[in-house]
Amino acid sequence: MVGAISFTNIQKIFPAQDDQQAAVEALSHINASIEPGQFVSLVGPSGSGKTTLLRIIAGLEKPTTGEVLIDQERVTQPSRKKGFVFQEATLYPWLTVYDNIALGLRLNKEEKRLNEVNDYIKLVGLEGFEKAFPHNLSGGMQQRVNIARALINKPDVLLLDEPFGALDAFTRSKMQNDLIAIWKERQITMVMVTHDVEEAVFLSDRIFAMTPRPAIIKEVIPVHLERPRLRDAPEFIAIKEQVLSVLNF
Ligand SMILES: Nc1ncnc2c1ncn2[C@@H]1O[C@H](COP(=O)(O)OP(=O)(O)O)[C@@H](O)[C@H]1O
Ligand SMILES: [Mg+2]
Repeated sequence: MVGAISFTNIQKIFPAQDDQQAAVEALSHINASIEPGQFVSLVGPSGSGKTTLLRIIAGLEKPTTGEVLIDQERVTQPSRKKGFVFQEATLYPWLTVYDNIALGLRLNKEEKRLNEVNDYIKLVGLEGFEKAFPHNLSGGMQQRVNIARALINKPDVLLLDEPFGALDAFTRSKMQNDLIAIWKERQITMVMVTHDVEEAVFLSDRIFAMTPRPAIIKEVIPVHLERPRLRDAPEFIAIKEQVLSVLNF
C-alpha cells in the first residue's frame, strides 16, 4: 500500500507582516509518522496550527525547517497524489455537480476517464444530483461533491480540514459513516483535522493531540476499537475522555 507520511522536525514560523506585529511560531518540532492506509485525526485548540500542518502535508505551505515525506519523497508542492477537502465550500457555483467533479479530469486532459465521473458520484451517494448546482445542495451534499472531486484524481493521501464542522449532528454522523466506507473501499491514507473529539474517536486509527501554539504533538492516542464503532460503548467513552484529558478540557 502507498500513502506513508513522515514528518521530521517540522517547524513553521509565519514572519511578521509589519513592525507592529511579532512573528508567529505556529508549529514547533513536529515528528511523527503515519502508516499507509491509516486514518489519523489531528485535534487541538483553535489556533494550534492544525490547518497549517495539513497544508504543509499538501504542499500548499512550506515548513520553515524540517520536511514531510510521502512514500520517501519530499513534499515540495501540491500534486494530485494529495487530495484536499477544505473546511469552506470550494465548489464552482456555475458548474453542475457532474462538471465540478469532472473539472479536474478536463484540466488534466484526462477526458478518457470522464466515464468514471458517475462512479464517483455514486461513491459519495449523490446519484440523481448530477445536474444540480451547488446552491441547490445542502452543506453535507456540497462536502460530498468536494470529496468526490478530490478522490477522482486517485490520491494516495486524502487531507480533510474540518470537513463536517458546519453540519448538523445528524448529517455529520451520516457523513462520518459514509467516509469510513469510502476509506475502506479506497484503502488510502486519510488525515483529518477536527475539533470534535467524538468524531476523532469514531473515525481514527490514531489521534494526534496537539498543544496550543507553538504546537507540538502532545500525545498520540491509538484507537483499537473494531468498526463500526458504537459511540455509547464504555470503551469508546473511555478513549474520548482520555483525549479530552490530554487536551485539558
Ligand atoms: N498565512 C498566515 N500568516 C500569518 N499567520 C498565520 C497564517 N496562517 C496561520 N497563521 C497563524 O498560525 C497559527 C495557527 O493557525 P492554524 O493552522 O490555522 O490553526 P488551527 O487550524 O489549529 O486553528 C494561528 O495563530 C494563525 O493566526
Ligand atoms: Mg484550522
